[in-house]
Amino acid sequence: MELNVNQQSLIKNIPLILSCYHVKLEAMQKDCIYLDNNATTKVDPEVIEAMLPYLRDYYGNPSSMHTFGGQVGKAVRQAREQVAALLGADESEIIFNSCGTEGDNAAIRAALLAQPEKRHIITTQVEHPAVLNVCKQLETQGYSVTYLSVNRQGQLDLNELEASLTGNTALVTIMYANNETGTVFPIEQIGLRAKERGALFHVDAVQAVGKIPLNMKTSTIDMLTMSGHKIHAPKGIGALYVRRGVRFRPLLIGGGQERGRRAGTENVPGIVALGKAAELELFHIEEATTREKRLRDRLEQTLIATIPECEVNGDPTQRLPNTTNIGFKYIEGEAILLHLNKHNICASSGSACSSGSLEPSHVLRAMGLPYTILHGSIRFSLCRYTTEAEIDAVLSVMPSVVERLRALSPFKSDQANWLQQQEQALLTKS
Ligand SMILES: Cc1ncc(COP(=O)(O)O)c(C=O)c1O
Repeated sequence: MELNVNQQSLIKNIPLILSCYHVKLEAMQKDCIYLDNNATTKVDPEVIEAMLPYLRDYYGNPSSMHTFGGQVGKAVRQAREQVAALLGADESEIIFNSCGTEGDNAAIRAALLAQPEKRHIITTQVEHPAVLNVCKQLETQGYSVTYLSVNRQGQLDLNELEASLTGNTALVTIMYANNETGTVFPIEQIGLRAKERGALFHVDAVQAVGKIPLNMKTSTIDMLTMSGHKIHAPKGIGALYVRRGVRFRPLLIGGGQERGRRAGTENVPGIVALGKAAELELFHIEEATTREKRLRDRLEQTLIATIPECEVNGDPTQRLPNTTNIGFKYIEGEAILLHLNKHNICASSGSACSSGSLEPSHVLRAMGLPYTILHGSIRFSLCRYTTEAEIDAVLSVMPSVVERLRALSPFKSDQANWLQQQEQALLTKS
């Protein structure tokens, strides 16, 4: 029997399909120590409970005229109130969408469309790609973009911001807190300067929501992006806050959903989940962030005290309570992660980009970290489920992991000349 092209391709890929299946099973069978909460979070069981009826039973379309759809509309309204409460905003200022990336894209495009006469944007060198890559694309379309620099602690210089603002600046788009280092920017001070020059102010608060108390009523922020999967809701749901009175042009055009600001039939289970997650974040924020900070500090301080030649990357005081990014000199972050993985510990390194290349993180590079630290940096990010025992487990394995890798490291201090050359090459490249 002759096989067609599709059948041949399927047979060729069977080993790959089976290996993916195997990997998935392996991951599901194990309970891991999950310290990668800035990447994504576990869905809260209460959130799952809240959304299930809208997957299983109440599948109506909230825009329908009948009662079956109407009752779903009520759930969407409640979720909007819950999200607005977390942000200190009005319900009418919340637009549900699919994720943080969509929120960032929509806010930036909307700001430019609303002010076609202005062609300048200000952002920072350390934004998430959801902002940076939009800005890069806009440069090819005739916009000019200022990428503000950061210092060794990842902080901005407000004088540089002031000097960059002109009457032509349509938008200042700056993250609340950095996903890699946790460094928190002085958002209200930035907003005041943007307002003085008549620019709109968008804040990517994907990492800040639920970790820093927010009140849009007293804020200078015009638009704010948040994402469900960073706050114990599922992936595929997010929201954009748009201050009442700010002219908004939708990214997605179609039906009149979200008051004409984001077309597409609503992801009702996701919206209900985001509402519940927002309610829980608001309920837990004080006690959870205090606890996370205590655990984070213990982890960080003990690692620094017990492992030679390592240091914290990021602002020592203006930092998210759940995040620590530590550079271990002379070794590769990816090698540390592989060892941690063997102990069932999930963390992250900023140095591998999604394309799989081993280019160092753009955030740590912008901070001007030396080559020796740039490649050996690891981020641990906690959440309200993190336990003392999990921190103890990390503390018990890290010293031996680092020691073992350093024993094999070709970068150790006797190779100082080689390192200097690498650093020089990197500086020349940047
Ligand atoms: C600061 C920041 N902005 C935007 C995003 C993108 O969010 P999403 O994954 O929901 O598209 C992320 C995700 O990691 C992030 O950390």
